[in-house]
Amino acid sequence: MTAMPSNNPLRVLGIETSCDETSAAVVECPVAATGTVTGPGKILSNVVLSQIEEHAAFGGVVPEIAARAHVEALDGIVAAALHDAGLGLADLDGIAVTAGPGLIGGVIVGVMTAKALAFGAEKPLVAVNHLEGHALTARLTDGIGFPYLLLLVSGGHTQILLVKGVGDYERWGTTIDDAVGEAFDKSAKLLDLGFPGGPAVERHAASGDPGRFDLPRPLLGRAGLDMSFAGLKTAVRLAAEKAAPMDRQAVSDLCASFQEAIADVLANRVGRAIDRYRERFPGKPINVVVAGGVAANQAIKGRLTAIAAETGATLIVPPPHLCTDNGAMIAWAGAERLARGQDDGTEFSPRSRWPLDEGADPTLGHGKQGVKV
Ligand code: KG4
Ligand code: ZN
Repeated sequence: MTAMPSNNPLRVLGIETSCDETSAAVVECPVAATGTVTGPGKILSNVVLSQIEEHAAFGGVVPEIAARAHVEALDGIVAAALHDAGLGLADLDGIAVTAGPGLIGGVIVGVMTAKALAFGAEKPLVAVNHLEGHALTARLTDGIGFPYLLLLVSGGHTQILLVKGVGDYERWGTTIDDAVGEAFDKSAKLLDLGFPGGPAVERHAASGDPGRFDLPRPLLGRAGLDMSFAGLKTAVRLAAEKAAPMDRQAVSDLCASFQEAIADVLANRVGRAIDRYRERFPGKPINVVVAGGVAANQAIKGRLTAIAAETGATLIVPPPHLCTDNGAMIAWAGAERLARGQDDGTEFSPRSRWPLDEGADPTLGHGKQGVKV
C-alpha cells in the first residue's frame, strides 16, 4: 500500500545514476485544483557528485567504475539531499528514479535504492525516462506550457523533438551516427585536450580563427531534420594530420573551425524545425528549449539565439547545472507523472534503451554508445 500524494505543492525526491553523475534532489511541484501542473517548480536541494576524475585517465566513462562509484556514493547523496531540503522521507509525496536509458549497472543501483526507499517509507515510486527529465526541465525552471520544441544535445543523444505533453513526444530529427557531445569529446581526444572535451574545445576556440580550416557541414543540403557528425570528426583528424606539427594557434583555429561547423548544422536544423512548427501550429508562440551538456557552449547558444530572434521564436536554455545530468530534473519529471496519478510500484525493470518516442524508427547512432544521454 502506498500513500497518495497529499501536499500541494507536491514534494518529490529524484535519483539519477544513469551515467557518471550520482545525484539526488528534492523539488516542489505546484498542482492546480484541476490536477494540472502549473510550474515553475522549486528546487529544495540538488546534490550532484561528478565522477569525471575517476574516468578522466581512461578518456571516457568506464561502466564498471561508474556503477561501483554509484554504489559507494548514493546513500550519502540521498541523505544529503533530504538534509539540504530540511525534510525526512515521511514528508515526501513520492520518489522518482531514472529507470533508463543509460549504463545499465548504474541504472540498477539507482532503481534498487529507490525501490527500497519507496517500499520502506510506503511512498509512490515513479520510473522516469532520463530523456524526459531533460525534456521537461524548462517547465521546472520557466513554467512553459505545451507544445514546444526541444533540441537535446548531450554526450549520448542529439535529437530535435516536439514535446506535446508528458509522455507525448514526436522525434523530428536525430543524429544518424555520433552525438554532438561525442564529436566534441572525440575531437578533443585526438587533439590531446583531455576529457570531457566540450569545455576544452570551447576554451581553445575562443582564441581561434573559425575560417582557417574548411570543415564539412554534413547533411546540410538535405531535406529533413536529421544530422550527422562522424564525418566532421574524421575531417578534424585529417586536418590535424595535414597541419602537423600543430602549434597552439593551429589547435585553437581547428577548435574554432570545428565548433563553427557544429553551430552551423545545429542552427540550420533548428531553423527548419521552427518553420515546420509554425506550419503545424499557425499563430502559436514558438518556444525552443535547449538541453544537455552541449547547451553550455556559448558559441552554439549564441547562434541558436540568433536563429530564434530571426524567426520570432523564444529560446529557453536552462542554467548549465540543470542542462547536465542532475537529480532535480528526474524529481520534476516524476512529480509531473505523480500529479497524474502514476505509481509504478516496485515491479518495473531498469532499461538500458528507452526512446522517448517509442513510435519512431530506430536510427543508427540513437544511443549507440549507450553512455551519456
Ligand atoms: O548532459 P551531459 O552532462 O551528459 C549527458 O550526455 O547526459 O553532457 C555531456 C556532454 C559531453 O560530451 C561534453 O563534452 C559536452 O556535453 N559539453 C560541451 C560543453 N560542456 C559540456 N560541449 C561543448 N561545449 C561545452 N562548453
Ligand atoms: Zn543526460
